[in-house]
Amino acid sequence: MELTGQNSLDHYLGGGIKEVVGWLSLTSAEFIAHLARFQTSIGITGDTCEIGIHHGKLFLILANVTSGNERAVAVDIFSDQHKNVDQSGYGDREIFEGHLRKFAPHSAVDIVQESSLDLTNSDFAKRKFRMFSVDGGHTSEITQNDLALAQTCAIPGSIVVLDDILNSHWLGVIEGTARYFIASGGLVPFAISPNKLYLTTSDDFARRYADELKRAFKDAISKEPVEFFGSQLVVFGERPSHWHVPPAELELARARHELTTIRNTISWRITAPLRWVRSAFS
Ligand SMILES: C[S@@+](CC[C@H](N)C(=O)[O-])C[C@H]1O[C@@H](n2cnc3c(N)ncnc32)[C@H](O)[C@@H]1O
Repeated sequence: MELTGQNSLDHYLGGGIKEVVGWLSLTSAEFIAHLARFQTSIGITGDTCEIGIHHGKLFLILANVTSGNERAVAVDIFSDQHKNVDQSGYGDREIFEGHLRKFAPHSAVDIVQESSLDLTNSDFAKRKFRMFSVDGGHTSEITQNDLALAQTCAIPGSIVVLDDILNSHWLGVIEGTARYFIASGGLVPFAISPNKLYLTTSDDFARRYADELKRAFKDAISKEPVEFFGSQLVVFGERPSHWHVPPAELELARARHELTTIRNTISWRITAPLRWVRSAFS
């Protein structure tokens, strides 16, 4: 099968994604792909970008959602790991380029080998992106920098996806996010899915995207509304389809367990002869 556009994304989400080492829940992968497709359906087009590639697990979604003149831009320090101040991941350009050839062979991709801290005052900051994943350095300073950069590069309706917002091993992310908002950051948060916070450019878009996620992923809604820096979020958990055991099998296992418990009770065992007599004569 020749992999082009839509079927290349489906092919990646349907299996290829499991071959790529990285940090991304399948639920959040589906959310990101769905939001990018939804943007296209409502007329929002443009390039996509990720800061922090590692081997490209998430980036391959951003590459596969592009079409026509759209480009996907990958930012990582790759072999300049002395700039990786908190050892968050380890970008490997060779492995990443191999995955690009295999899973996004027709996407137009630019690779920028730089620290995101050096991009704010460069030509890069003049580019515009409709979707921007922030997953590079996880310190407070880098998180605040990268959110501000994503905001600078936004168009109306852009979506910014921030990694590890609630990961207790990477508290710099929540600190940097707080600093970004206190310094009057303008992005509007609208949802959380496993490990990811989603933000956009206005209350209107926030409502629209949250409504679309609720419609498409009803089975994963965990709590709403949850207030965060003056916005109301919808919080989603893992999708039941990604649980290790399908819910129907869980129900069956629970029923079997209850039956065994009843059969082991003393009264059940004492009344066993009566049940035998009744079944013998009926
Ligand atoms: C957590 S990993 C990214 C995971 C990836 N998004 C995925 O889908 O699996 C973090 C990446 O950020 C890169 N990185 C660390 N500090 C950076 C910086 N200041 N600028 C750009 N990239 C950075 C690392 O080399 C590493 O590849």
